[in-house]
Amino acid sequence: MSEQSLTITDNRTGKTYSVPITDGTIRAMDLRQIKVDPEDFGLMSHDPGFNNTSSCRSAITYIDGEKGILRYRGYPIEQLAENSSYLETAYLILNGELPTRPELDAWVYEITHRTMVHENIKKLMDGFQYDAHPMGMLISTIAALSTFYPNARKIKDSAVRRLQISRLIAKMPTIAAYAYRKRMGLPYVYPDNTLSYTGNFLKMMFQMADSYQPHPVLERALDVLFILHADHEQNCGTNAMRSVSSSNVDPYSAMAGAAAALYGPLHGGANEQVLRMLQDIGSVDNVPEFITKVKNRETLLMGFGHRVYKNYDPRAAIVKKMAYEVFEVTGRNPLLDIALELERIALEDEYFIERKLYPNVDFYTGIIYQAMRFPVDMFPVLFAIPRTVGWLAQWEESREDKETSIARPRQIYTGYNERDFVPVEKRS
Ligand code: CMC
Repeated sequence: MSEQSLTITDNRTGKTYSVPITDGTIRAMDLRQIKVDPEDFGLMSHDPGFNNTSSCRSAITYIDGEKGILRYRGYPIEQLAENSSYLETAYLILNGELPTRPELDAWVYEITHRTMVHENIKKLMDGFQYDAHPMGMLISTIAALSTFYPNARKIKDSAVRRLQISRLIAKMPTIAAYAYRKRMGLPYVYPDNTLSYTGNFLKMMFQMADSYQPHPVLERALDVLFILHADHEQNCGTNAMRSVSSSNVDPYSAMAGAAAALYGPLHGGANEQVLRMLQDIGSVDNVPEFITKVKNRETLLMGFGHRVYKNYDPRAAIVKKMAYEVFEVTGRNPLLDIALELERIALEDEYFIERKLYPNVDFYTGIIYQAMRFPVDMFPVLFAIPRTVGWLAQWEESREDKETSIARPRQIYTGYNERDFVPVEKRS
């Protein structure tokens, strides 16, 4: 018997089975042979939140949640945040290697020259209510892009796929800024190809009647935040991307699904909730009372805890440090003191220690975004823009993976057995 195998004894029948172990996993389909009788469907595993189920092979992002390690294509997140730019990191995530200078220049040129959106997108935006949440507008507009690029349905053609990837990375900041401008009742600002990815985004967001130049510190800070959010292996949004696209739908429709997943308060919507939580707490003096509420399970400490990290989220450490650099330019956000006090108390408290709850990436980002003048409901949008490359790299990887098949889980049926239909007049 191979050492790389698992022996299972079914105590219902006394039978023993040997199941191969590959890459530290067993294949769920190998359990199907375990039956009580020939009529039996066979054993399944039950894992509603994918807590211990691998759904794919991926060479993009590595996380060691116990040690607090995050790497894209083998490069530590700390080194990328220090030395790279968002578009360079995006190239790395997509292609597996850092670009040479000519490759980088060509890539930046390609993205920069695809930032404009069809004029009809403005009409689409105009149809939303004045107070529509920008994330709802973003999700809808991403889905709508599939109608502008019907060729994107040719998902088996790698050149067609590449084109949609560039389009989406390029157009996300434009759509995001349009959503904000619509919300504010301001005219839309066209992209400026002389600026960087984040510089252009800041201009499309904040230009008023005067000429606008992004502040280099804020432009770089946003670029670093974008690097930190670029990918995070099989999180809820990425799983949605892979799951929706497994039906062979076009990438715009699939990415609308991924962005919708990200919008939720347990995922990318958490940064918005953190800010609202800090505002509700109101002052450092109220922190102990709030922590008591969390321990009594009346509320969650938003921005804390993670499915994978059982240590300090390495992204949160970088964001926390960067907050001080941003505040040098914008002035200190008073909510920082509440956040620092929350973190201090939580990290010393048995409730949080026992459960290995540490700050995640969302804990400090909102304080920075707010200092940079982004309204709170734009925060999930600021997560979705950079995550685009992660979704698309994972999509591309899944398209080339022979193991990819339509995502279609099983269930444990808990409903009625067969029963006869009762006409309405005979129902009591
Ligand atoms: N505040 C208070 N208690 C918490 C928190 C929190 N933020 N997070 C987890 N717990 C408790 C939870 O109640 C449970 O306690 P017990 O074992 O006594 O029932 C224990 O810790 C384990 O939590 P879990 O919910 O089983 O863990 P999970 O892996 O299913 O959930 C999570 C992970 C991120 C959804 C959760 O920690 C959470 O809701 N955090 C707040 C929302 C948040 O900040 N989300 C952003 C995640 S990072 C960015 C991203 O990738 O989207």
